[in-house]
Amino acid sequence: MTMNHRLFSFIADQDGPWAITSQTTWVGEPLPVAGGLHLVAGAAPAEGRPWVLRGITSHERYVEREEKQALVARQQGLGRPASTCAALIPIRKSAAWWALTQDERRQVFEAQSHHIGIGMNYLPAIARRLHHCRDLSENEPFDFLTWFEFDPALESDFDRMLAELRATPEWQYVDREIEIRLIRRGG
Ligand code: HEM
Repeated sequence: MTMNHRLFSFIADQDGPWAITSQTTWVGEPLPVAGGLHLVAGAAPAEGRPWVLRGITSHERYVEREEKQALVARQQGLGRPASTCAALIPIRKSAAWWALTQDERRQVFEAQSHHIGIGMNYLPAIARRLHHCRDLSENEPFDFLTWFEFDPALESDFDRMLAELRATPEWQYVDREIEIRLIRRGG
């Protein structure tokens, strides 16, 4: 079997390099509570685990050329030693979102909600990786797995960004969202 290098698994467990400090269900069905998390490249079996979520990194759908240049110039990668705080936020969007056309979605995402504009204000402090789930199978529990890493001193900035994004028209299409906050063990 060939390995898909864009596939990542988030494995809930009792231990793991990331300790789960809180798990808040904002909308929709909660996930079983877990103590820790492994983030691994590739697939992982779900047996005996509270839950395993999987997603693939993919090409960008909405970013325009100038935005891409600005993002690339500012963003930093995962795994920075000082980034001992993390958040995993699995998100599902409603049927109404998926019924929109691509240009209507871009309109809501950026023209109305300024998702990139808001997010850009928090770079390079927050590092992120977006994983897509919809194309893996017909019955994935979420559409996106969003992962963020940052210095603990910036936790209140991260909270403010979440509040700004959740107040946008884009979030009216979110019908399942769970915010899982973590700290790196031994870090
Ligand atoms: C660090 C700040 C952030 C930046 C710079 C940022 C940037 C972006 C960009 C550029 C995209 C579009 C990718 C594409 O073109 O396909 C995107 C998509 C997305 N972001 Fe963010 N983001 C940030 C924070 C967040 C946060 C905090 C959340 C969740 C609470 C989030 C959730 C999402 C989701 C779910 C998508 C996919 C939207 C869709 O395809 O419908 N982002 N983000």
